[in-house]
Amino acid sequence: MSEPKFTPRVFSGIQPSGGLTLGNYLGAIKRFVSMQDENFETVYCMVDLHAITVWQDPEDLAHNTRELAAGFIASGISPEKSILINQSQVPEHAQLAWIFNCVARMGWMGRMTQFKDKAGKNTENVSLGLFAYPALMAADILIYHATHVPVGEDQKQHLELTRDIAAKFNHDYGVDFFPITEPVIEGAATRVMSLRDGSKKMSKSDPSDASRINMTDDADAIAKKIRKAKTDPDALPSEVEGLNERPEARNLVNIYAALNEQSVEDVLREVGGQQFGTFKPLLAELAVSKLAPISTEMARLMAQPDEIDKILAKGAAQAREITAPILKKTYEIVGMVS
Ligand code: AMP
Ligand code: TRP
Repeated sequence: MSEPKFTPRVFSGIQPSGGLTLGNYLGAIKRFVSMQDENFETVYCMVDLHAITVWQDPEDLAHNTRELAAGFIASGISPEKSILINQSQVPEHAQLAWIFNCVARMGWMGRMTQFKDKAGKNTENVSLGLFAYPALMAADILIYHATHVPVGEDQKQHLELTRDIAAKFNHDYGVDFFPITEPVIEGAATRVMSLRDGSKKMSKSDPSDASRINMTDDADAIAKKIRKAKTDPDALPSEVEGLNERPEARNLVNIYAALNEQSVEDVLREVGGQQFGTFKPLLAELAVSKLAPISTEMARLMAQPDEIDKILAKGAAQAREITAPILKKTYEIVGMVS
C-alpha cells in the first residue's frame, strides 16, 4: 500500500426530527465523542434537510435543531475539537446530492429497508425526498471525503449504498476521487430496542413515549419508564447465551453495559441470578447518574440560543473550507463549465 490518499476524517449526522433518545446517545453520540480524541478530524451534523423528508412544523424544526446541537455539546462534543453544523448551512451537501441522484440507480434505492419501513403501504404518497434520502446521506459523507462514519446498526445499509455510489462515480468517470468509507458500528448498544417491545428499535418517532428514554427526561421519568419496561418473569442469566430468545432482557443488559462502559459478559457476571425487581432499580440509578448531568447542561445551553447559532455559523464556515473545493473538483470531473 502507498501513502493513504485521504485524511482520516469522521462524519456523522442525526435528524432534528424530534428529541434525542437513549438510542441516539448509546448508538451514535458516545462514539462521536470518543472519536474526537483519536486521530481524526471530526464533523458532526444536524441533518435538517433529511428531517423534512417527512413533514416538520417549521418552529419545531428550528427548536429541535438547536436542541440537538445542545445535546451534542452537553454530551461532550466540543466545538473546539469538532466541526458542528446544521446541514442546510453548508449548501455543498445538497449540491453534491443532485450529482449522486444521477449516479444512484432506482433499483438500489428501492431496496432500502428504511424507505420501505417509513413508506409502508403508502409509497404513492410519500415525498420524493424520502426515496432520495440515502443519496443525500452519501453526499453528506463524501463532500468531506470522510473515511469513517460512526452510526447505529440501522444505518448499515445506507453506508453500503454510500460505498456503491462512491465506487460507481469513480468507475464511471475513471477517477479515484471519492473514498470508500468505513462504517463504525461498535459497542454493546448498536441497536437499542423499545422498552415496550423488544423486537422494535427505540425511536424518537414511536407514538408511545414510554417506549423510549428521552435525553430531556428527568430522573423520575427515567426511573418510571425503566420500572415499567417490558420483561419476562425469569431471573437474569450469568452467561450471554442465556439471553438468547429473551430480547427484552438482552436489551436492558445491553443498555446497562453501554452506559457503564462494560462488556455484557462482565455485567452478567455481576447481576446474573438477579430478578428484574432488583436489576431495574440498579439500571435506573445508573441511567439517571449518566443522563441527568447531560439534560441539565442541555437546558442551560438552550437558554442561550444565540450562542448555539454562533457555534453553528462558525462550524458552517469551517466546513465550507473543506466542502467547496471538493464540490468544485467534482463539477470539473463531471464536465460542468464554470
Ligand atoms: P436518527 O435519530 O434516525 O437520525 O439516528 C441518528 C443516529 O442514532 C444513527 O447513527 C442511528 O443509527 C442511531 N440510532 C438511532 N436509534 C438508535 C437505536 N435505537 N439504537 C442504536 N442506535 C440508534
Ligand atoms: N440517516 C441517518 C439516520 O437517520 C442520519 C444521517 C444523515 C447520517 N446523513 C448522515 C448518518 C451521514 C451518518 C452519516 O440515522
